[in-house]
Amino acid sequence: MKQLISLKNICRSYRNGDQELQVLKNINLEVHEGEFVAIMGPSGSGKSTLMNIIGMLDTPTSGEYYLEEKEVAGLGEKQLAKVRNQEIGFVFQQFFLLSKMDALQNVELPLIYAGVPASKRRKLAKEYLEKVELTDRSHHLPSELSGGQKQRVAIARALVNNPSIILADEPTGALDTKTGNQIMQLLVELNKEGKTIIMVTHEPEIAAYAKRQIVIRDGIISSDSVQVEKEEN
Ligand SMILES: Nc1ncnc2c1ncn2[C@@H]1O[C@H](COP(=O)(O)OP(=O)(O)OP(=O)(O)O)[C@@H](O)[C@H]1O
Ligand SMILES: [Mg+2]
Repeated sequence: MKQLISLKNICRSYRNGDQELQVLKNINLEVHEGEFVAIMGPSGSGKSTLMNIIGMLDTPTSGEYYLEEKEVAGLGEKQLAKVRNQEIGFVFQQFFLLSKMDALQNVELPLIYAGVPASKRRKLAKEYLEKVELTDRSHHLPSELSGGQKQRVAIARALVNNPSIILADEPTGALDTKTGNQIMQLLVELNKEGKTIIMVTHEPEIAAYAKRQIVIRDGIISSDSVQVEKEEN
């Protein structure tokens, strides 16, 4: 499979007066098309920092990041925004839906940024809301939706530009176990359809849905293992 992400010796540190806090230390990571990766590790170990770098919301202090074989550091602001919008879909623990927009409008947002004409936007947003089984909630505001429904709207929004990668930082963190498992079923389906997914979670039961588990400790990848495929009867 095609290599999507390649991180070479990625470091990220923060300066605090004359102290330097090294959050990521020489991270080397490759992710191929079609993978489903779970990133685990203690609080403060650098998981979100890594996700933000992969999602191009943050830049490393040193090291190289190649997305589809293009070095991200070589992209200008405009190109960066375009790649971020079209190649990567984000899902967060806290959903981050716009509260004054209904479900359909929230899903449409990335298409507005991408400059897709209104009629096509509407059609695509409807299609993706249907994919997450929320057609009957199209005109509800986020405050009128359950946690699981909100996360499904956020997933539809992440998918609507047909990105190659879905980045999900604790997508089930704010949900009860049952709802969390439903969201995971949806992510598993999307992965079967070919989406590459990288997800952060604290819960081993949630990480078990992924095909590959990575553990980060203190800014270093301490383990990286691929699960043996289970036979499906
Ligand atoms: N903007 C910042 N300035 C200074 N330090 C930061 C900044 N952002 C993160 N850090 C520090 O970097 C470390 C890693 O943070 P990060 O958010 O990546 O952890 P995490 O593994 O996602 O933790 P959690 O499981 O709690 O979400 C923490 O010690 C945090 O305090
Ligand atoms: Mg985090």
